[in-house]
Amino acid sequence: MEIRKVVIPVAGWGTRSLPASKNVPKEMLPIFKKPVVQYVVEEAMQSGIEDVVLVTNQNKRIIEDHFDHNFLLEQLLERAGKKDILEEVRRVAEMVNIITVRQKEQLGLGHAVLCAREVVGNDPFAVMVGDDLMFGMQPGIGQLIEVAVAEKTPVIGVMEIPAEKVNRYGIIDGREYAPGLFRVRNLVEKPPVGQAPSRMAIVGRYVLTPEILRFLAEQKPGHGGEIQLTDALQRLADECGLLAVKIHGQRFDAGDWVEYLTANIYFALQDEDLRYDLVERLRVLLSCPA
Ligand code: G1P
Repeated sequence: MEIRKVVIPVAGWGTRSLPASKNVPKEMLPIFKKPVVQYVVEEAMQSGIEDVVLVTNQNKRIIEDHFDHNFLLEQLLERAGKKDILEEVRRVAEMVNIITVRQKEQLGLGHAVLCAREVVGNDPFAVMVGDDLMFGMQPGIGQLIEVAVAEKTPVIGVMEIPAEKVNRYGIIDGREYAPGLFRVRNLVEKPPVGQAPSRMAIVGRYVLTPEILRFLAEQKPGHGGEIQLTDALQRLADECGLLAVKIHGQRFDAGDWVEYLTANIYFALQDEDLRYDLVERLRVLLSCPA
């Protein structure tokens, strides 16, 4: 099994990020010096993925532009002798192959993945949710690919979450057959608090086999009236087997303001040139009465 393609659905409205996302796609909001989606694409790239399938809508064109050349800007930077930033701008344009498909109606995450059917073809592929960010020693999707390749089985990424947040996620019920590795028995999309089978939540990283596309095509609407990927994964678990890997690393949900702001600080603190001044400013802010 080899994973060369990733499907990144980016057609959602991003209501949690309004008004900032009214005209700028939520995936293009910056976290420190880069837009959210660039972190996701870099994670894919570091995991050996070469083709990125963006599932977009008509308001999301600037996402694909971000991963393309802007020759006017590059000329300007060259003339101004700004070599470092020029290199960075070119690196982003050459990072991966971008293929876009349109999701013409917002019918859910499962439907978005199904829109990539023709491009995915008959190969196993990855899915990464465009506003779930993960950082650690090993890229999040890379941790899944390793297990999927070794076990020749589809794999989803999970993390343990507080009991009061289960209603925001897909939750699995599984048997832990090795530390951090689960055989998935059941999955439920956004169960009410107190009714979840566990606290292991699906965190927007999947390595799937092509059968999922057939199951998605037959999938009836589920939670919220949407075609849920989680529901089709139940069929995949029943008919083909499905594993879950507990992902190691930091996760930020860029659609949540506290997490979005924390992610900004997390990256800014890693920048030697900014770290000292930022800590000083934060110290002053925290000592001032609101
Ligand atoms: C989607 C999935 C859900 C998963 C979540 C992770 O939900 O449907 O199973 O736990 O992503 O971010 P959404 O956040 O799009 O409502």
